[in-house]
Amino acid sequence: MKRDFLAINDYTKTHLEELLNLALSLKKEYFAQGNLPLLKGKVLGMVFNKPSLRTRISFDMAMRHLGGDALFISPSEIGLGKRESIADVARVLAGYVSGIMARVFEHEHVVELARWSSVPVINGLSDYNHPCQAFADVFTIFEHFGTLDDLNVAYVGDGNNVALSLLHACARLGVNFTIASPEEYDIKPSTWSEAEEESRKNGCSIKQLRIPQDAVVDADVVYTDTWTSMGQEEESKKREKLFPPYQVNSTLLKLAKPTTMVMHCLPAHRGQEITNEVADGPQSLLFIQAHNRLHAQKAILVDLLGEK
Ligand code: CP
Ligand code: NVA
Repeated sequence: MKRDFLAINDYTKTHLEELLNLALSLKKEYFAQGNLPLLKGKVLGMVFNKPSLRTRISFDMAMRHLGGDALFISPSEIGLGKRESIADVARVLAGYVSGIMARVFEHEHVVELARWSSVPVINGLSDYNHPCQAFADVFTIFEHFGTLDDLNVAYVGDGNNVALSLLHACARLGVNFTIASPEEYDIKPSTWSEAEEESRKNGCSIKQLRIPQDAVVDADVVYTDTWTSMGQEEESKKREKLFPPYQVNSTLLKLAKPTTMVMHCLPAHRGQEITNEVADGPQSLLFIQAHNRLHAQKAILVDLLGEK
């Protein structure tokens, strides 16, 4: 039966751990002698309803490094759900490509694609979540610290799609997670209670706070993202007034440990959610993190599209 990757919770803890190890070995192999053509003859159709640098190029390059190919499909070409129904697009596309990766506004659209597609569908970001980002992020944390045990991740800012998938990944993999966000910008209560149950099972804690200073004190990783996500542009003025206390700057970082690392999914809005001195400073993992999208996604692709 075909599988999809629409949310971190689609995969068990064991499966995610296996994928982390696979990502690590594919990264080593790539830098040693190049990857084996595990996806020879496979093509990933990439549907983008929003802009992208990292997701688009890293998926494209991941397919090429593994002997396959990728096809970029712009919103104006297929008009997902506008020119043609999502169900029809999914059924037609599945006859041409080996897998579909889609970046959409409404999460239901990627779910609908997966429902009708006979080939695997990967969620390349929706308004609800960003599982490929979170998987690459836990990979970066695992690689940097050499373990995921006894680590504290503090997310400072908007409880958005990136925060939600990071919460899912931490809760499932046993990493302590704290979020500091302003009122009304919390992670959805239903998601939070599911994650609480998951974190109890996996022996870690999750906390929701308002004060960023309180969140970062014990943090091994301080994570932030844009205050205004794609599709929320008309709220940006309101958000720019509300979010400045949640800026990740050197004053905030000094409250954490000297070994604390800073992460951001990018694109960064320097001077807003993160300052230059932090983004470019010695505690920044930002570019390693961006490059790891390539290696982490290779593991996701080999797992979904490779020969069993
Ligand atoms: N982090 C991330 O998904 O970046 P892009 O929007 O450039 O793909
Ligand atoms: N939260 C951001 C992430 C971009 C990769 C957005 O959805 O725009």
